[in-house]
Amino acid sequence: MDVLGRSFFLLSGENPRLSAAELQQVLNILNNTSSVELINSRIASADVPQRLHGEIIERAALTKMAGLIIAAGSVERLKKDEIELAPGWENLVPEDVKGFGVDVVKISGASVNSLEVEKRFAEHILSCLPRLKVSLEKPDIVFMLLISPTTYVAGILGATKPKHFFQPRRAGRKPFRIPSALQPKLARCLVNLAVSSRDSRVLDPFAGSGAILVEAGLMGHEAVGLELKTWISNGMALNIRPFCPSVCHIVQGDAKRPPFTSAFDAIATDPPYGRSATLGGHALKGLLKKFFEAVSGAARGKARIAMIVPREEYENLLEAAVEFKPLQHHDVYVHKSLTRRVVVLGLE
Ligand SMILES: C[S@@+](CC[C@H](N)C(=O)[O-])C[C@H]1O[C@@H](n2cnc3c(N)ncnc32)[C@H](O)[C@@H]1O
Repeated sequence: MDVLGRSFFLLSGENPRLSAAELQQVLNILNNTSSVELINSRIASADVPQRLHGEIIERAALTKMAGLIIAAGSVERLKKDEIELAPGWENLVPEDVKGFGVDVVKISGASVNSLEVEKRFAEHILSCLPRLKVSLEKPDIVFMLLISPTTYVAGILGATKPKHFFQPRRAGRKPFRIPSALQPKLARCLVNLAVSSRDSRVLDPFAGSGAILVEAGLMGHEAVGLELKTWISNGMALNIRPFCPSVCHIVQGDAKRPPFTSAFDAIATDPPYGRSATLGGHALKGLLKKFFEAVSGAARGKARIAMIVPREEYENLLEAAVEFKPLQHHDVYVHKSLTRRVVVLGLE
């Protein structure tokens, strides 16, 4: 692979396939037409300019880091001290850069001595670019070495997700809680799978405590949450207030009869299911059928739906979603008796 100038992306280890799918959709949202390719299960690459790294890392829930690739190869060669930086990699280092740092990330139990490879990598960089100096305190540039059990990728760090990015919005920390509240990471991922541009309007027809609305709002989307129950709608308002009150709107109503026509490009949602008290006596299949019939009226253009159902309800969902075409699905293991399925559908 011709790696120089391509970007690398470190994907979340929880669900690499879902992470790659989300990253691909984030590139589409930012009008980048390149395809995400997997170098190994945790590292993806794509033809993406450096100026987009910050926005991608801020937006994509399941991508932790982005940078420009300067080398890639087998771990065996790395162990033999044979890092081959791609010819011309020095041109990616701006003239005014002086101090550099090196950081090593070991992935999925890679068996290398981090300190040793870090030292050798720094020496290698210095031997190629003697004008640079190691700077531990405040480097102008950071070279990364991502090492999996089989492959390594070396690159120039572009952006990295802050450690506690989702912490303030975790379900347990918000003013209002319901047991079925979605965590912000999955909520953000659902929004990205549903939207097609930076200005897509998002509807969550089963909004609950508002996790999806908050993530959509923080990414700059106008978002509307529909919720059947008054006490939950009131609680949702409390959760939205600290984060994105100006772009998020709450409508109390029934997802089977949404009071909108042709208003939304994207629907991201997590309907009630199983023995959940919030299902209000309906079997999920019946609720979904009525919901899909109604929601196609609220959607416009080539609207997409990203939603979560228990895996065993997938066939019921497909039977109910007659006007929608299944585009992709991914399983998210929760515990022994619950695997959630993230499903993306497009309006036929
Ligand atoms: C699984 S919860 C959604 C959780 C939400 N994603 C969150 O983060 O809090 C489903 C929500 O749908 C609401 N609901 C149930 N039936 C509904 C209907 N017909 N129309 C609108 N909302 C409904 C329930 O009251 C519940 O709050």
